[in-house]
Amino acid sequence: MLRVGVMVSGGGTNLQAILDSIDSGKIQNAEIVVVVSNNPGAYALERAKNHGIEAVCLSPKEFSGREEFNRAFLKKLEEYRLDLIVLAGFLVKIPEEMVKQYEGRIINIHPSLIPSFCGVGYYGLKVHEAALDRGVKVTGATVHFVDSGMDTGPIILQKAVEVQDGDTPEVLQRRVMEQAEWEILPRAIDMIANHRI
Ligand code: GAR
Repeated sequence: MLRVGVMVSGGGTNLQAILDSIDSGKIQNAEIVVVVSNNPGAYALERAKNHGIEAVCLSPKEFSGREEFNRAFLKKLEEYRLDLIVLAGFLVKIPEEMVKQYEGRIINIHPSLIPSFCGVGYYGLKVHEAALDRGVKVTGATVHFVDSGMDTGPIILQKAVEVQDGDTPEVLQRRVMEQAEWEILPRAIDMIANHRI
């Protein structure tokens, strides 16, 4: 069984997609052993608890500085002996030491077709605002391995989604989640758990 830790900051619909895929058997040979959030108000924490999964909150605000937070964060994760860390809407920059320690074992979902609309400042709704401002006709989502850059690691899966006339950032965000994110993130986890990548 692949021991998976999911890192979240918000609503946790991607976490829910992973939980549902484990329950339905779309993801085989993987279990979520912990969900970690930097945000005490993240609804994702409730989703974890409702599923009987340990939910941990570590907020940078509780620490005197980023170094302290990074140390505590890494130490906490070590308790769970994770094989895979999934960033599912986690809006904290992953510390360099953590990237090294878990090299090739951290994946991220990003709501665009990388290399478009990614990197510093592109997260959540901002990504879809930028796509609409640019007038692209196709956008999508990407699952990639995390390296020391921002959204620069090797790509695992991508799925395209059409932009439609009259889309608002919120409408486009929902379509990208439904048609791409909730499908490719569970699929990538299943691929890793079953050595197909
Ligand atoms: C998702 O759209 C995810 O792709 C995005 O945050 C949202 C989280 O939603 N991640 C990023 O923008 C990372 N750069 P969720 O909490 O409902 O899964």
